Amino acid sequence: MDNYGAAVERIEVVTGDITKMTVDVIVNAANNSLLGGGGVDGAIHRAAGHGLLTECEGLGGCPTGQAKITGAYELPAKAVIHTVGPVWQGGDNREADLLAACYRNSLQLAVDAGHSSIAFPAISCGVYGYPQGPASRVAVTTIADELRHLGQISRVLLVAYDDSMASLYRRELARLTH
Ligand code: AR6
Repeated sequence: MDNYGAAVERIEVVTGDITKMTVDVIVNAANNSLLGGGGVDGAIHRAAGHGLLTECEGLGGCPTGQAKITGAYELPAKAVIHTVGPVWQGGDNREADLLAACYRNSLQLAVDAGHSSIAFPAISCGVYGYPQGPASRVAVTTIADELRHLGQISRVLLVAYDDSMASLYRRELARLTH
């Protein structure tokens, strides 16, 4: 792999609750309605407070692979980017392309809004059933590739909710630099 070194240095793996992260932007793994749900979506809405739902109600939903930005209300972050990952259907239904689009579009929105640090959950790896190994590879390669031309982003947190996801992220990061 070429020239990933400087990009990979800006990516950190952390384990924990994304709602607690002090970064400019946290990313939500939402659904097409953007009106809340379980998993990380439920946790973000609970921690942000009702203002977030009210703002989301005015967004008119979001197609799979796309992203929309809102305020962060009572969260320590400055903004929330809501993206909709693909539901895993076996891998032959453009799942990898759509998952990569979530990471790309979220990073671009963060840059457009003037932000420089961002935390991602493992989009699609919960309710939507995307296997953790393939998802970690899409996440790390897409983010590293984008960071090569998004100089404004100085820090990306990959937030794992369990140790197995954290080791998969670390393995993928090591693969890009060795
Ligand atoms: N912080 C960080 N990661 C978390 C947290 C948290 N607080 N809570 C869960 N995770 P999921 P999806 C991890 O199901 O698969 C919702 O109902 C979790 O362990 O939240 O994209 C939406 O409304 C997993 O690794 O999102 C949609 O309907 C990862 O976050 C649907 O679920 C993503 O799991 C989206 O499904």
